[in-house]
Amino acid sequence: MAPTISGFSKLSKDDKIKWLAAHHFNDEVQAIATLKKYWNSDEQLQQLHDEFTENTISNYYLPFSVAPNFLINGERYTIPMTIEESSVVAAASKAAKFWLTRGGFKAEVLATTKVGQVHFMYQGEATVLSEFFQDIKPTLLASVKELTAKMEKRGGGIRDIQLVNKSNDLAHYYQLHCTFETVDAMGANFINSCLEKFAETLLACAETSPKDIIKLQDFEIVMSILSNYVPDCVVSASVSCPISDFPNTPQLSAKQYAEKFVRAVHIAQIEPYRAVTHNKGIMNGVDAVVLATGNDFRAIEAGAHAYAAKEGSYKSLTKATIENDQFTFSIKIPLALGTVGGLTNLHPLVKFALQLLGNPNAKQLMKIVAVAGLAQNFAAINSLITTGIQQGHMKMHLMNILNQFNASENEKNEAVSFFKNNTVSYSAVEQLLEKLRS
Ligand code: MEV
Repeated sequence: MAPTISGFSKLSKDDKIKWLAAHHFNDEVQAIATLKKYWNSDEQLQQLHDEFTENTISNYYLPFSVAPNFLINGERYTIPMTIEESSVVAAASKAAKFWLTRGGFKAEVLATTKVGQVHFMYQGEATVLSEFFQDIKPTLLASVKELTAKMEKRGGGIRDIQLVNKSNDLAHYYQLHCTFETVDAMGANFINSCLEKFAETLLACAETSPKDIIKLQDFEIVMSILSNYVPDCVVSASVSCPISDFPNTPQLSAKQYAEKFVRAVHIAQIEPYRAVTHNKGIMNGVDAVVLATGNDFRAIEAGAHAYAAKEGSYKSLTKATIENDQFTFSIKIPLALGTVGGLTNLHPLVKFALQLLGNPNAKQLMKIVAVAGLAQNFAAINSLITTGIQQGHMKMHLMNILNQFNASENEKNEAVSFFKNNTVSYSAVEQLLEKLRS
């Protein structure tokens, strides 16, 4: 077991690595070599990455891929995707190409309001607190003027502050429920700074109020923090075509295909076990673009899944209908995204990704990300209701299996051509390599 260490963060990068290697690895030289192999030879770039977080000892690569041929509201996009899972990018590209000749994707931002809350306890009368809040609301708003000045210039700022009485759910619990417009910034720091100022101002106002009405000791600020639940920061995207536009195959006519597709989505509407996997597939597309564009995929994940459960049971984020022989497939998803601030100005590949997308504003990025999610879900359901998911997935996974067996270039080429007409599986690859090597 490694000994407790104090002051680890103060060690140099080299000393951190030496300590790790000495206390966690049998082969210290190999451990150090693995970490150093991923250092960037450009020292400035390496330092930039080192400084993103604390105790950085190396870089962790994920593939940076692109899916071309997306048509969104009449504009063409090549979408950057950062994801480790094989077949996701291929699936997105396939869906993009399919809808390219059928009118493409339509997307619309429905709302962009973000939320933050000051959670506090109050031991006095609710009616007294309510009057106090109405009196101090202008002071609360004035207290953040310095913080909001720049945001207001860009068209954003605080939209409202409301006092919410939650004491029926938890004794003495109240909130300042605050709504924000953060324009092109994700806005987490802006929102949290405003909330902390509101909390401070609330207490300052309580301190200077007439003591017989409001008593400072009746208040306890528990915490001030933005919410990643953003049901009013929502974007929708859709595709639509006559059902006759789907190919007829020996297994399924175009009509049968469309109906089966709709049934698959209906199942995800009413069956949570399926809905979670269905939405996971959507998030394959969403997270990949969110990550490539330097946004916070954990926030997006948390918000999306909460939204999927907003009606009390967990449901699909997409819907599919057939009306008058017209097939429509759509998504509605909350996406609190930014195209300024955070990593967007710092990480060279994030900058590249945004440039590739034509430097979108946050609303444009919301549309692109929603489309990536919808495309991914379309591709997944298409596979699930026709060939099954494994056929395509294993084809794309072939390289990973070959790499696990340290296949040479020649062996890889042989395997790719062999598996054009054979089913990929771990054991089938193993057998082929044995044959090639014997
Ligand atoms: C795998 O990463 C995602 C899928 O399971 C999604 C789905 O089942 O819809 C294929």
